[in-house]
Parts: sequence; C-alpha cells; structure tokens
Amino acid sequence: MNKTRVLTGITTTGTPHLGNYVGAIKPAITASQDPNVQSFYFLADLHALIKCQDPKRVEQSRLEIAATWLALGLDTDNAIFYRQSDIPEIPELTWMLSCVCAKGLMNRAHAYKAAVADNESAGYPDPDKGITMGLFGYPVLMAADILMFNAHKVPVGRDQIQHIEMARDIAGRFNHLYKGQFFTQPEAVVDDKVEVLNGLDGRKMSKSYNNTIPLFVSEKKLQKLVRKIKTNSLEPGEPKDPDTCTLFQIYSAFASAEDTADLRREYENGIGWGVAKDRVFESLNAHLREPRERYQALMEDPGHIEQVLAKGAERARSEAAPFMDRLREAAGLGRFV
Ligand code: TRP
Repeated sequence: MNKTRVLTGITTTGTPHLGNYVGAIKPAITASQDPNVQSFYFLADLHALIKCQDPKRVEQSRLEIAATWLALGLDTDNAIFYRQSDIPEIPELTWMLSCVCAKGLMNRAHAYKAAVADNESAGYPDPDKGITMGLFGYPVLMAADILMFNAHKVPVGRDQIQHIEMARDIAGRFNHLYKGQFFTQPEAVVDDKVEVLNGLDGRKMSKSYNNTIPLFVSEKKLQKLVRKIKTNSLEPGEPKDPDTCTLFQIYSAFASAEDTADLRREYENGIGWGVAKDRVFESLNAHLREPRERYQALMEDPGHIEQVLAKGAERARSEAAPFMDRLREAAGLGRFV
C-alpha cells in the first residue's frame, strides 16, 4: 500500500515553547502514529541561516529542537527525522528548481514583499536594502524540501500556504519542461482545530513578541512564568470570564475536558488569580515533568541525538540520492556511460 507522505520542517532559530507544542509538535507526533502515513520531519537548519547568522544560536536551537521532539515521544523508527543540512541533494535540487522558477513568482512572495515594504516606508532609496538572495529564494529551498520526497501533505501555519502554492507551481513547471511526472503536487494542510496559544502578555505566543513559556524550563522558572501571565484586576469572589483569559486557554490546552469544565465553574464562582495560577502551574508541571527529565537526559547526550539524526539522514538520502540521479539525467547532467 502506498502511504500518504506527510512532511514538515522546523526552522532552527529558537527554543521550543508551549505554543509550538500545542500548535505543531503534538499534532505532528500524533499524525506520525497513523499506520497509513509516512512522515518526514526535519530540522530546517539551512532555512535558519536566512534569518540568523549567530552560529551558537543555530547550533543550540538544532539540539534543543531535536531533543524536544524525541523527549515528547516522536518514534524515529517510524517517522523519518533528519537535519536538512545532512541531505546535500536538497541544495542541489534547489538550484535545479531555481533554474525553472520565474523570478516574478518570487517577487510576489509575502515575506519578500513585506521586507520591501518596510524599506519603502523607512524611506530607503534601495527597496532591496538588507535583503539577501537567501530570503528572496527561500520559497525555492522550501519547494526542494517538499518535492525531494514527493510529499502529499504539508502541515503548516497559514503564513506558509503561499509557499506550498509556489512549490506546486515550480513542480508543474519542471514536469512540463522535462516532460515527465517527476514531482507530486503537494497540498498544504492547515488545521483550524489546532489551537493558537496566547503568550504571557495575551498576544499570540511567539518568539518575536518575547512572551513565550519555553517547554522545558525548570519547575521553579515555570512557576515564575505562569505567575507572569497577564490577567485583570478582578478580586477573589468576583466572577471571571474564562473565554477571554490566557491563563484559562493555556490550562485547557493541556488539561482533560473534565478538569477544564471544573476550572470554568471555579471562574464563575470567582476563583482568585493567585489560586488559579497555582492550579495552572501544577497541571502544566504534571504534564511536563516526565518529558522534561527525558529532555534533560537527551541534552546531556548529544552523541545519541547525532546517532538518531544520522539514521534519519541515511533513510532520507536512500530516497533522495537515486531520485536526484534521475533528475540530473532528465536535465542533461547524467553520466556519459
Ligand atoms: N518555512 C517553514 C516555517 O518557517 C519551515 C519549513 C522549511 C518548512 N521547509 C519546509 C515547512 C518544508 C514545511 C515544509 O515554518
């Protein structure tokens, strides 16, 4: 039976937080357990270089993200889990795709257009000021990630839908020019049921807002951060609205339906913020305690993580290398004999 291929990449520039877990990691791990699915999950470390030229941060983020996915139970005998930079066929395919991709298509990319708009509104005479070829060509690298493994489904956030459409466009162009069905047309999967978690200040939890709760901080730090979650000035005894409350939202993303219903009643009964925060901390901590221990053990054993990723790279390359041979040949770069 041909399994559905699900593929997604995680850019390695930050430390995984609760919002990443609820919005991406947890659904990805669950999807990988479906016997009808072959999943490909990778550390998009070539993408990291586009936004981050701090080698220590990229290195640390790669390790943290790998350890996080393993600690949370990703089964790497099942999912193919690898580092993008371990697959030299990906930059090679990026070049081939760049040579069939219209520049005009890249001109329309949201991320590039936003950077140009920023330059224009700042009054710079050069609209491309500070924009690298990496940023400009980013959607081609992403297309290569996806098309290399003929992924059917690509779970992404809304902001990435355009990139999947571009990958489809580029795939069609390559197939047409070189007269073959080389690439499958990928589909973006945006799950509306997946929750977007709010952060400490009530805005979307995001590294760029500096309002995150990292997944595996110490128990003490976790408690401190939960106490920092913004609430309002209602006193104990006054009824509170769970549906507009970040604290409640974070709780419900982890707690059972019963416990969530129970806290909802407490809100109506006027639970005090201090008590509510303690309860949220206890619940989060209970969920994170075991994976945190596994995470810490993994972070102390980078050799093990290296081994897991080497195995993933080997599996990925066992497909990418022969496929790349075929593509080279199609483009006139095959061997003479
Ligand atoms: N660009 C994606 C992001 O910022 C990460 C990514 C890189 C990716 N390559 C990918 C996602 C391929 C899906 C498929 O979120």
